[in-house]
Amino acid sequence: MRFKDRVVIVTGAARGIGATTAEAFAREGARVAAVDLDASGVEATVKRLRDAGADALGFRSDVAAAAEVTTMVQAVLGRWRRVDVLVNNAGGFSAMRLTEDITDQEWDGILRSNLTSAFVCSRAVLPTMKRQRAGRIVNVSSVVARGGVVRTTAHYTAAKAGVIGLTRHLAAEVADHGITVNAVAPGTTATERVVALRTPEDTARLAATIPLRRLGEPADIADSILYLASDAARWVTGVVLDVNGGQVMA
Ligand SMILES: NC(=O)c1ccc[n+]([C@@H]2O[C@H](COP(=O)([O-])OP(=O)(O)OC[C@H]3O[C@@H](n4cnc5c(N)ncnc54)[C@H](O)[C@@H]3O)[C@@H](O)[C@H]2O)c1
Repeated sequence: MRFKDRVVIVTGAARGIGATTAEAFAREGARVAAVDLDASGVEATVKRLRDAGADALGFRSDVAAAAEVTTMVQAVLGRWRRVDVLVNNAGGFSAMRLTEDITDQEWDGILRSNLTSAFVCSRAVLPTMKRQRAGRIVNVSSVVARGGVVRTTAHYTAAKAGVIGLTRHLAAEVADHGITVNAVAPGTTATERVVALRTPEDTARLAATIPLRRLGEPADIADSILYLASDAARWVTGVVLDVNGGQVMA
């Protein structure tokens, strides 16, 4: 029970890595706020958490929209009075695109959901974490921002590199307040969204190129997020933890 009674906000918690991370925190005793644009997905996550005996809240919020995030954080504080951990997991991309085919709107959308969201949510919890003189922020970047040649898209790669820059900057800025800020950079992980991006043959070919010979599972990523949020990582800040089966060794 590493997180007994700690208050944890997980963004993008309707499915995939975020849902698995919310469940992992709940199993370890945390009070979990699950946040996502997808209302029914969030509801399903919260139901699973509560069925397992956890104290959980669900929010249908756009985590890049300041007003919605403020409302969500106020509701979390209203219920539990503190915020111990923020996991900025919302994001992803859903279609392969050559750079010349990316519209302005798509560029803005991907930057917004993957990078702006981490800024907006961090900004919203920092006053509380500073008051507590303690807090953990874990951002979810990606293997695509770590080197090697993993085929995705320009906007997604730029956004995930931005997440690493934000992580390092913020880690230095808030360290004096007892707050740590770290990132996990997952390798290709078999969530529904990612499996749908490739044919089964392409997925098998990709898995064969990974030294540990398989794609990641959401639990592989959740375990690392929990480590960075745990007491065991008390002297770890500003790092990017590669969790990728050796896909890219940065
Ligand atoms: N799966 C992978 O291979 C992989 C690899 C590296 C990094 N990542 C990153 O891990 C995170 C989770 O990935 P996943 O595969 O579980 O994706 P997913 O699509 O299964 O889940 C992402 C969730 O984020 C939510 N979301 C997106 N924008 C949002 C917004 N503005 N406000 C609120 N919710 C929003 C979506 O509704 C969705 O439920 C993403 O940041 C992704 O970029 C995933």
